[in-house]
Amino acid sequence: MSAELPEPYGSPPEEPASAPTRRTFIATATAVGGAVAAGGLVGGASSAAAEEAVAEAPSGRVSLTVNGERHTAVIDNRTSLLDLLREQLGLTGTKKGCNAGACGACTVHVDGRRVNSCLTLAVRLEDAEVTTVEGLADGDELHPLQRAFVEQDAFQCGFCTPGQLMSGVGCVEEGHAGSHEEIREWMSGNICRCGCYVKIVRAIEQTVGGK
Ligand code: FES
Ligand code: FES
Repeated sequence: MSAELPEPYGSPPEEPASAPTRRTFIATATAVGGAVAAGGLVGGASSAAAEEAVAEAPSGRVSLTVNGERHTAVIDNRTSLLDLLREQLGLTGTKKGCNAGACGACTVHVDGRRVNSCLTLAVRLEDAEVTTVEGLADGDELHPLQRAFVEQDAFQCGFCTPGQLMSGVGCVEEGHAGSHEEIREWMSGNICRCGCYVKIVRAIEQTVGGK
């Protein structure tokens, strides 16, 4: 059996090399807004101001271990762990849903604890051990919870699944999976718009039961 979970929407389209990122867009908008307010810069002058603003973005360096592999990255200090994983390390299994701490799609483990990576500043994770959904399986051997998700048919579109898996593993390891009700409570930060909650709880129960 393959260790990979299905990519729900297929491979994301390639962005052109010159496509603006969220940060460059914000920096550009800020710089252009400031320039206009200061006296109406237009054309070449405004784009020079924008480039300067991007170049001056506060930057830092972080070295951390992700799924057993050491990485060092130079990042804007405002970069979230989610953006570091997806945009710099190419680990797109972790999903960006709300980007505001409300859906749980971005759940990963940092030093053994589950966190919302969209709310976690990457620059603060020096020497941290991060595990993402790509690190759950052992080679071709799926993690027991991944296997249970397949057997219980605990997903539909699959977008929330990486976050559900990481949170589910955390829920079991924390000892918060003693009953149906307890699982529902401790998984309540992970939203599934397809409404697969009953089967997700069953998959966690199956994992706890060692079946
Ligand atoms: S993307 Fe992080 S909680 Fe929704
Ligand atoms: S399976 Fe579609 S959002 Fe959960």
